[in-house]
Amino acid sequence: MKFGYFDDSRKEYVINTPKTPYPWINYLGNQGFFSLISNTAGGYSFYMDARLRRITRYRYNNVPLDMGGRYFYINDNGTVWNPGWSPVKTELDEYECRHGMGYTIIKGKKDGLKAEVTFFVPQNYDGEVQQVVLTNEGSSAKEFSIFSMAEWCLWDAQDDCTNFQRNFSTGRVEIEGSTIYHVTEYRDRRNHYAFYTVNDEIDGYDTDRDAFLGSIYNGWDNPETVKAGKASNSFADGWSPIASHYKKITLAPGESKTLIYILGYAENPQDKKFASEKPANLLTREAWVLNKEKAYAMIDRYNTPEKVAAGLEELRTTWENLLSIYKVDTPDDKVNRMVNIWNQYQCMVTFNLSRSASYFESGIGRGMGFRDSNQDILGFVHQIPERARERLIDIASTQLSDGGCYHQYQPLTKKGNADIGGDFSDDPLWMIMSVAAYIKETGDWGILDANVPFDDDPEGKHTMLEHLNVSFYHIVNNLGPHGLPLAMRADWNDCINLSCFSDTPGESFQTYTNPKFKAEGGYSKIAESVFVAALFTYTGPAYVGILEHLGKADEAAKAQAEIDKMKKNTMESAFDGEWFLRAYDANGEKMGSHECEEGKIFIEPQGFAVMSEIGKEEGADIKTLNSIDKYLNCEYGLVLNNPAFTKYYIQYGEISTYPGGYKENAGIFTHNNAWIICAEAYVGRGEKAFEYYSKIAPAFTEETSDIHKTEPYVYGQMIGGKDAKNFGQGKNSWLTGTAAWNMVAISQYILGVKPEFDGLRVDPSIPSAWDGFKVERKFRGDVYEIEIKNPDHVCKGVKKLTVDGNEIEGCIVPVAGDGKTHKVEVVLG
Ligand code: BGC
Ligand code: NOJ
Repeated sequence: MKFGYFDDSRKEYVINTPKTPYPWINYLGNQGFFSLISNTAGGYSFYMDARLRRITRYRYNNVPLDMGGRYFYINDNGTVWNPGWSPVKTELDEYECRHGMGYTIIKGKKDGLKAEVTFFVPQNYDGEVQQVVLTNEGSSAKEFSIFSMAEWCLWDAQDDCTNFQRNFSTGRVEIEGSTIYHVTEYRDRRNHYAFYTVNDEIDGYDTDRDAFLGSIYNGWDNPETVKAGKASNSFADGWSPIASHYKKITLAPGESKTLIYILGYAENPQDKKFASEKPANLLTREAWVLNKEKAYAMIDRYNTPEKVAAGLEELRTTWENLLSIYKVDTPDDKVNRMVNIWNQYQCMVTFNLSRSASYFESGIGRGMGFRDSNQDILGFVHQIPERARERLIDIASTQLSDGGCYHQYQPLTKKGNADIGGDFSDDPLWMIMSVAAYIKETGDWGILDANVPFDDDPEGKHTMLEHLNVSFYHIVNNLGPHGLPLAMRADWNDCINLSCFSDTPGESFQTYTNPKFKAEGGYSKIAESVFVAALFTYTGPAYVGILEHLGKADEAAKAQAEIDKMKKNTMESAFDGEWFLRAYDANGEKMGSHECEEGKIFIEPQGFAVMSEIGKEEGADIKTLNSIDKYLNCEYGLVLNNPAFTKYYIQYGEISTYPGGYKENAGIFTHNNAWIICAEAYVGRGEKAFEYYSKIAPAFTEETSDIHKTEPYVYGQMIGGKDAKNFGQGKNSWLTGTAAWNMVAISQYILGVKPEFDGLRVDPSIPSAWDGFKVERKFRGDVYEIEIKNPDHVCKGVKKLTVDGNEIEGCIVPVAGDGKTHKVEVVLG
């Protein structure tokens, strides 16, 4: 069952009922100011950091779900309704929500009155513009009122939902004309403020939540001022400040009126905070006036429909350009839709927000993840390489000089989060992978010389190359008894906590250190991760390639020897006969072996081991992939492990705390499905690669939206696995490494157009039924128009490759570097 449809010509998903199985959201904003907006206009806004600069308030896990956001209420002759149906939930005569690239349009119609609201954050602008077009489509004149509503968060979202004894007494606002300013704490220690304005005269306002609602026992679905058809002109004094504009409107039949609201954020320099000192104002009792110059300038930028149209057009061309860098034309519309539009769009969102703010991530739990952000770059780097470069430097600057990493950092302060700490064994390797991906995309070898400090030596002169070096050797220097990398606190799978042994409620599996390992430095020196071993052998060659390019042959050979040794150790101690083990636990026992009672096979190490060709000569690669198909493949994707754990295994930690089929305990963890897709494509089994790709790609799950529940245009982190009661149900949509990795899987492995240090590799691995396909790829300033022909209906194998008519050896198109368009023709066979 579907709840809408894709409108590919406009790059939109069109939702035609407000009652989706879960709030289906979109993201507005790309740089500083961000908003989350659901199909009923729920959500919130923040500047840069969803925890430290939250602008509007949002209550997670509330009943009912998704109450609160920015709402418009219309009172038409006593009938109160919202264009997005919620929160009043008056049945609408017509409803539609269009989520597009950086904007959302919500339309509602009731009793002949139509309201169309376009929400977007313009480029280089710290505010959300909301253009409301009201049209009387009836046959008689209409007199009605419209109320806006935004509830201010008191900036620090964590403090806002815990520190009530203070926060109920700090709220402050200032009102000037049609603009309501949120100035809580501004006088004291904050230099930022927010405002909500409308480009017309208003008939009243409310800034106190309780006054707007009329009673502390009312919810957003029942505001008394709206019902009464008149604002109360309340002035917030502590408690919960809001911003609501009230306006009376009369429309003749056929007549329209446009109102433009702006929810903005601005910062003032310390010495320009105040417009003036003034004698204590009787209403506000404040002895100061906010310097509003920045707000005035912001308001001036979007206060007419023409300016709004220009802002929308700028946004549209920005996305047109971003999406023109990798464009595909395959025989499958759903592939085209994912690659050309939605997967790339999601990659931008994950790049911007890491795992911080979604409908499943509260925005207060985590900032940017070290491993997360590095992986996000893999799917994003071709879009805006300059931003990827900046991000790489930010991330690397949180690294320690021994190669260890803070697991997370706050985007506002760019400092590692000490409360989470480090010792996640895989973290450093993702840094090598993302820097290599950046160089392969851009050819900017200069990044290796960029000055990048270490967290524990902030003033020191260090280069990015040194960061790669300590990352590589952080693995090599931390090996366990089998010569495999120590698992430490956890590897990619946060929920395999081999040094935790927790038997006390409330201990965080991921940050708790069992005292028995304290003396050893916080984690077992026995537990080893086969996943990190395979990730090392897969990623290490990029480091070697970099050293070779720099002419450091000795260092390259030394690093290569470590990779070879790791491959040998892995084959000797971690090949279980039909697949690779997952780990050795702190007791030195095998995890993920046919010998285990549960959790006999895990997905994570397998794809990287296959692509590293570990044991290829003995057929380990194909055996492994066949085992995955046999034990992990099911209707909705590949489960993470099998059989699911049914007991708590204290030696494994969090993974065995989930009911079977959810999350890391045998859920379909879509992120790692991509690694298998890549591996299947790598060995040339294009059908299998495509089968796995299409099982989880959102455009393909659209038809079963009632089971899948989350948005059919973006990936979620997890789908209930075959052991789950809710088999096939998606969760944790939007912010997941799945976005970047599936972009890599489809664009670089299946479609096979992959940047390398010295050119563009074209080596597809596709379903044999395809006659061929086309890719347009902008790469290092040139345009490559690639046409792949598949006359023999094979999955993989480049028989002939020509560039501008000239045949070349191998399948790497050299960089022309002339800024021109080049025709690449590839014949498979
Ligand atoms: C959990 C992961 C989860 C992540 C997202 C981690 O603490 O272990 O499974 O994906 O948080 O919230
Ligand atoms: C989500 C986290 O963001 C990611 O870093 C981790 O690898 C997966 N969960 C698996 O546990």
